[in-house]
Parts: sequence; structure tokens; C-alpha cells
Amino acid sequence: MRIERCVCHKVEFSTVKRWLAAHPGAHFAEIKQEFKCGTGCGLCAPYLRRMMRTGETVYYQIVTERDEPPTPE
Ligand code: FES
Repeated sequence: MRIERCVCHKVEFSTVKRWLAAHPGAHFAEIKQEFKCGTGCGLCAPYLRRMMRTGETVYYQIVTERDEPPTPE
């Protein structure tokens, strides 16, 4: 299974990564505000947090809140 987007809001993680490159230092709260990612089912949130940490935008394994816990926003 290939996981590469916020399904609820149809936003690819790579799109968020490009936006982050133009907004260095942005926090996850700002991603939520800009793209609405994480405001629906919330399943994309740990993937996006991992993306912020590692730069990955495509995943082939499940990433949960346990793997990438919320950080202060
Ligand atoms: S997949 Fe992003 S909020 Fe549901």
C-alpha cells in the first residue's frame, strides 16, 4: 500500500513539503491552517509529522500517533 496524501483534503505530502521549504520553521499547526490536513479523520497527521522530521513523502507502512506522537504546536 502506497500512502502519499491526506485523503480527506486531497493534499499530497510532497505538496506540503514544498510549502514547508518556502516556510522554514513552520509548525504543524500552520500546516493544518494552510492545508486543513489533520482536521478531518486525522490519520495523515503522524505521516506529516514524520515528513517534517525525515523529509519522506511516500510511505509503504502504517504510521500511527504512537510512532509519531503530537508535539506542542
Ligand atoms: S487523511 Fe488527512 S485529515 Fe483525514
